[in-house]
Amino acid sequence: MSRHYDAIIIGAGAAGLHCAWQAAARGLKVLLLDHAKQAGKKILISGGGRCNFTNMYASPENYLCENPHFCKSALSRYTQWDFIALVEKHGIAYHEKTLGQLFCDDSAKAIVRMLLDECDTFGAKVQLRTEINAVSWHEGSYQVATSQGDYHAPQLVVACGGLSMPKLGATPLGYQLAEQFDHRVLPVRAGLVPFTLHESDKQAYSELSGLALEVNASNDRASFKEALLFTHRGLSGPAMLQLSSYWLPGESFNVDLLPGHDCLAELQQLRSERPKLGLRSVLQQWFPKRFAQTLADQQQWPDKNLADCSNNVLAAVAERLHQWPVKPNGTEGYRTAEVTLGGVDTEQLSSKTMASKHQPGLYFIGEVVDVTGWLGGYNFQWAWASAHACAEAL
Ligand code: FDA
Repeated sequence: MSRHYDAIIIGAGAAGLHCAWQAAARGLKVLLLDHAKQAGKKILISGGGRCNFTNMYASPENYLCENPHFCKSALSRYTQWDFIALVEKHGIAYHEKTLGQLFCDDSAKAIVRMLLDECDTFGAKVQLRTEINAVSWHEGSYQVATSQGDYHAPQLVVACGGLSMPKLGATPLGYQLAEQFDHRVLPVRAGLVPFTLHESDKQAYSELSGLALEVNASNDRASFKEALLFTHRGLSGPAMLQLSSYWLPGESFNVDLLPGHDCLAELQQLRSERPKLGLRSVLQQWFPKRFAQTLADQQQWPDKNLADCSNNVLAAVAERLHQWPVKPNGTEGYRTAEVTLGGVDTEQLSSKTMASKHQPGLYFIGEVVDVTGWLGGYNFQWAWASAHACAEAL
């Protein structure tokens, strides 16, 4: 059995699988290696098992990167419509859930099946249960020493993903290989991850576990109008996950608990129309009872009729409702994070091909690169698009 290939790809996740079949379709002899027992594990559990495989509105603005222009070329040359066409070619039924997020009707397994079928069709070899022991480069060829023996190729694609969810096989191999070949790795941290709260807040809010509110969460970098979910450990839900990618330890942010309302005007109007209405009763009309009570207790708002509340009191209440300050204790970290922020610096990569600018035949694609998408199918779209850009260049 020949152990020489045109390209070796490390990591049979979203990016690696998509790159492997497209490179093979161009006539290359491709070997895709992974230490896991199963290909595409993250695809399988993504989107609650239905895989939010892309977003109809994906555009470069939905990505975080030191260089916000880097992702433009790849995203524009392989768009969400290209991936949707592939999904349709394979007869996979899908639907839009919300905000352009496309999910499989049945199971995420269909997406992995589709990618493996394409690998089969074009003859890309997918080899699982293979530990990577060492990678070296000698006279224009990469040698990948593995638990199954050594493999050689003039081109190496690093598609090992980030650090999130180690139990699904995440390792720092991609970053280590980057450093080995003199690539800068920008500091990494967990993104799209629930917040944890300080003990005192946790005690107050853990009783609200399971309760969700439509809010607008913001800091001076970003703002997301989506659901906030109270959990036993802190705050989750799309609004919190999204903001976590724009949050740094020690910072606070604001939550508008009634976006689209003018609380002060509404409170003043209620005071003139129904002066005997209690302030806390108003809160219970606006929010689920448990939350209204907890909030009023926390803020020590008076248990008074509106008629007895001064303009100052109503203004203070309105301000809190529009700017509820949250100071997280931290995040749940890589254990539950959907993505890893930071990673291989794009400065040293070609945005057209994902190739190293200084190391011949070396490529980085997918999450290992310092490109991180929002929640909602954007991360897979980056995996597909960067894989395509690379496959075209191999
Ligand atoms: P990915 O992590 O998919 O693949 C990396 C591969 O490299 C893995 O197969 C791994 O086993 C392998 N590998 C790692 N270290 C190795 C080593 N040392 N040796 C050999 N192989 C190694 N995104 C989205 O757009 N829509 C969604 O619905 C979701 N949902 C979601 C849910 C959950 C729970 C998580 C954790 C993540 C998501 N995401 C998501 C994010 C998305 O899954 C992620 O961005 C992509 O899978 C990244 O694709 P990559 O191929 O770059 O890495």
